[in-house]
Amino acid sequence: MRIHLSTAKPKKVAKGAMSAYVELTVGKRALMVLDNGKRILQIGVDAKKMNRRKLIVLFRRIISLGNAHGVTHLVVRLEDFLFPNIPASSEEVALLMTSNFGTANFSFTQYKSTTDDRTRIEDVVILTKKPDPIRLPVRRGSIISDEVNRSRIVANTPGGEMTPKVLAAWAQCRALATGVSVQVLGRGEMEHLGMGALLGVARGSVEEPKFIIAEYRNDEGAPIVLVGKGVTFDTGGINLKPTNALADMHMDMAGGSAVLSTVFLAARLKIKKHLIALVPAAENMPSGSSYRPGDILKSMSGKTIEILNTDAEGRVILADALTYAKRYRPSVVIDVATLTGAAMVALGTRASALFTNDEKLRDILMEAGESSGEYLWPLPLWEEYESDVKGTFGDIANTGKSSYGGAINGALFLKQFTKGLSRWAHIDIAPRMTSVEGDYLAKGATGVPIQLLIRAVEML
Ligand code: BES
Ligand code: MN
Ligand code: ZN
Repeated sequence: MRIHLSTAKPKKVAKGAMSAYVELTVGKRALMVLDNGKRILQIGVDAKKMNRRKLIVLFRRIISLGNAHGVTHLVVRLEDFLFPNIPASSEEVALLMTSNFGTANFSFTQYKSTTDDRTRIEDVVILTKKPDPIRLPVRRGSIISDEVNRSRIVANTPGGEMTPKVLAAWAQCRALATGVSVQVLGRGEMEHLGMGALLGVARGSVEEPKFIIAEYRNDEGAPIVLVGKGVTFDTGGINLKPTNALADMHMDMAGGSAVLSTVFLAARLKIKKHLIALVPAAENMPSGSSYRPGDILKSMSGKTIEILNTDAEGRVILADALTYAKRYRPSVVIDVATLTGAAMVALGTRASALFTNDEKLRDILMEAGESSGEYLWPLPLWEEYESDVKGTFGDIANTGKSSYGGAINGALFLKQFTKGLSRWAHIDIAPRMTSVEGDYLAKGATGVPIQLLIRAVEML
């Protein structure tokens, strides 16, 4: 999708193009009308009830409606979207417009043999009286949606294809394109480092686990380390998931692809920070060589992990990644994971769950979530819950003793591996792994929380 800035309505459009001018109307109508050959895409908006959350969705609705009507060229007036009751500058509105236009125009077509099933919006003209101030935010918005969409392709790619090795190769490829340095550790190096937790989870699969490290350094200070769960397919292992729960488990590496993409995005936006992404990548499979319930794994931290359920594998591989993160003496560590179905039970599908040991970090992440449209809601990390993850024969058990509070138990397990990290946050993105009705995003991966992270990183 190309974005153009203009002070006047374009006179002519290319042959074969279907051009439409977007008009915000008071009523609930959302239809196309033909008016002496000109097309107007009318979207129902109640300006009095407008807020930032609705504005973000409005941008996506425009694209979705335009595509539904076969529009290829869209003309919008920036000033139409500067609502008096939304405290956002025209620069910020331009950024939200372009980033959300871009993510809404995405669809996962890589595996479709016919490409002509649907036209998509190719060009957007943003009319504005003052184009200069919004040139940078418009470029930023386009870069953001481009990187988010690349991440969605990776997350959407079937598990049989997107193995740890392929995920690592993708990271190397993107790193080359963006000027980020990437290092990939294999089984041998993991053994040397004592990553018994990651190696344990990977044991059931013929696919070799990979530990992906991406570093972007544009600041001399201590790095911000982002850790992402990279389970390329989660069968549950010996605690095999039932049929319905297996669907979508190729997206169990969405946290991993999101943190990698955040680093690539930071490089493309030339953000003045030192950023590192760590992704333990493995496939969780049942087989004769799988780790078993009752097994006790020695993690890189030295602590032993008693496996009560092989389907609670994300926290196990993250344990080694959090331990590895400490070697950088990071200023902040944020891990992102499709960790628990329980986070969805608690929050539904509209917000990810946030856990953190630092109030200021919580405020920054909540604000970044609110302003990007990638919402978070906090859950407790209280000591009272800690007894739930105590092991019987090992130091720490990988599931809680009670079936209640599963998202909190997952977070408390991770907390056991964050000793010495004064600013740590865990984001359970299971609720936002896939898009839902009302998001106006294509079916499949959402790319959450890349846009949140890039905003948060700038605030840190
Ligand atoms: N990857 C799943 C969590 C998940 C479920 C993410 C649905 C997205 C959608 C995770 O590895 C898992 O299986 N968690 C278990 C933990 C339980 C065994 C303690 C769960 O949520 O059931
Ligand atoms: Mn699992
Ligand atoms: Zn999982």
